[in-house]
Amino acid sequence: MTAILQTANLSKSFGGLHAVEAVNLEVERGHIHGIIGPNGAGKTTLFNLLTGTYTPSRGEIYFNGLSITRLSPERIARLGIARTFQNIKLFKYMSVLDNVKIGFHTQTETSFWDAFFHTSRFHRDERIAAQKGFEILTRVGLAKHADDLASNLPYGTQRKLEIARALATQPQLLLLDEPAAGMNPAETAELIDFIRKLNQEGLTIIIIEHDMKLIMNLCHRITVIHHGEKIFEGTPVEVQNHPGVIEAYLGKGRLNPSAV
Ligand SMILES: Nc1ncnc2c1ncn2[C@@H]1O[C@H](COP(=O)(O)OP(=O)(O)OP(=O)(O)O)[C@@H](O)[C@H]1O
Ligand SMILES: [Mg+2]
Repeated sequence: MTAILQTANLSKSFGGLHAVEAVNLEVERGHIHGIIGPNGAGKTTLFNLLTGTYTPSRGEIYFNGLSITRLSPERIARLGIARTFQNIKLFKYMSVLDNVKIGFHTQTETSFWDAFFHTSRFHRDERIAAQKGFEILTRVGLAKHADDLASNLPYGTQRKLEIARALATQPQLLLLDEPAAGMNPAETAELIDFIRKLNQEGLTIIIIEHDMKLIMNLCHRITVIHHGEKIFEGTPVEVQNHPGVIEAYLGKGRLNPSAV
């Protein structure tokens, strides 16, 4: 097994609250890896640790075998980890294309002063960002919306735009925090196809979701988190049949995707 991401005893406390407690996670390159668990289990906190938003209280994070435990969010993004947020974070009053162009900022050399004085480097980077941005919008099927205001897109399309922006950093690993939240069934079905396509193109994905149909359909492996601790990890079939998971997490029968 070739792990793209590993954590060792990863922990984060807020005062006396152990939001993430001694989590050992191993994500194989090329996989779609699910993270499930009840509200407040520590899933988003785990993403905030992996992306450098929070510094761990204890433990280590390895990306491609190298420790990224105390690196800044910018360094981690440059190394190839991108994310989307549980609550959509788009620049609502900017165009769809401009939202994606912002994703390139980790990649260009434009400084504040270049942007301020509109130097030739600024113009060159702008041109490249617009071209690459348009390529990504084409790849995800949003090119026809390039000039629309982000706020005018339907909800499901805004979520897709957030993923497109994350792709602009050319990640190896994409973290999706509840991408189907608030979507209608048609939007969710489209999202499932979209995530599978990204994965087939070579992207490794870690996905937090409460939508069990999506999780069981998409994931190669699933980690179950409860009160900050990993209580189980396995294939969708193993997770659905594990009595401890069913009891501790959702209640009998709730993990069967045909029942949701
Ligand atoms: N910055 C913070 N300061 C204090 N407590 C926090 C902070 N961030 C998260 N927590 C707490 O850590 C625990 C885990 O929260 P987290 O957001 O990671 O849960 P989650 O599994 O993502 O839940 P949900 O499914 O509702 O999104 C919760 O009790 C939460 O209140
Ligand atoms: Mg969360």
